[in-house]
Amino acid sequence: MKKLLTLVFLFSLLGAGTAIAAGPSVPLDRANIDLKDQASLQRGAGFFFQYCVGCHSLEFARYNRIGRDLGLSDDFVVENLIHTTNMEGDPTGIGDQVHIAMRASDAEEWFAQPAPDLTLTARLHGPDWIYTVLRSFYLDDSRPLGVNNAAFENMGMPHVLWNLQGWQRNAGSLEEPQLEMVSQGALGTEEYDQVVRDITAFLTYIGEPVRLERTQIGMWVIAFLILFTFVAYLLKKEYWRDVH
Ligand code: HEC
Repeated sequence: MKKLLTLVFLFSLLGAGTAIAAGPSVPLDRANIDLKDQASLQRGAGFFFQYCVGCHSLEFARYNRIGRDLGLSDDFVVENLIHTTNMEGDPTGIGDQVHIAMRASDAEEWFAQPAPDLTLTARLHGPDWIYTVLRSFYLDDSRPLGVNNAAFENMGMPHVLWNLQGWQRNAGSLEEPQLEMVSQGALGTEEYDQVVRDITAFLTYIGEPVRLERTQIGMWVIAFLILFTFVAYLLKKEYWRDVH
């Protein structure tokens, strides 16, 4: 019994640890992504390869798999999504993993904090966190890049989507941020939110590509279980016929 209690205690600690590691410090906005919306995933991929792959890799993903999952042909992927070359300077192939466009040594030199791989970020922090972070950059002269983030204090990433969103300032404090728009970018607030939603959907898909298939398989499993329940009921009736 004692052993069991210790085990339960240890497991609850484990759970608490993960909750703290992934726990948000500010209230998160709901991303409301829809993984069944293929157009949203395709747009998200487009934005990722336009704005993010310069610094962030997706080491556990390959271009051809992304294309297949999102309904894009290999030719389309090569022409529109692959903007990088490998170390020898040759174009990245359709079967390659998603590496960043700059060399790791350059990245280390240019940024104090190297940009992390984003394949598993949505699994670690959840889609709402990514959605909130990408909408929470604000101007802050005290930071080296002139920008801070209300959902990720002292984040070492520049606001790469500033031309779309524009600039915000923090009228509150670090603890209780209150963001307000100073200059609007190329998009309105709702349009910008949709861009961020698309990117978040893409990163959520990339964290667990089988999820797209899993929901479909799930339907079959449920249909099978319903059918099996019916068969089991008939069997039960047959077995008990002589008893009653
Ligand atoms: C100029 C380089 C650069 C570009 C381009 C860039 N990032 Fe980043 N990003 C960083 C750096 C550096 C960090 C690490 C920040 C830190 O930990 O302080 C980071 C961190 C992140 C994180 C937090 C990851 C974690 O687990 O802590 C997310 C999410 C993120 N970036 C998303 C994006 C998205 C989405 C794009 C494209 C729209 C993008 N980034 C483009 C440099 C970049």
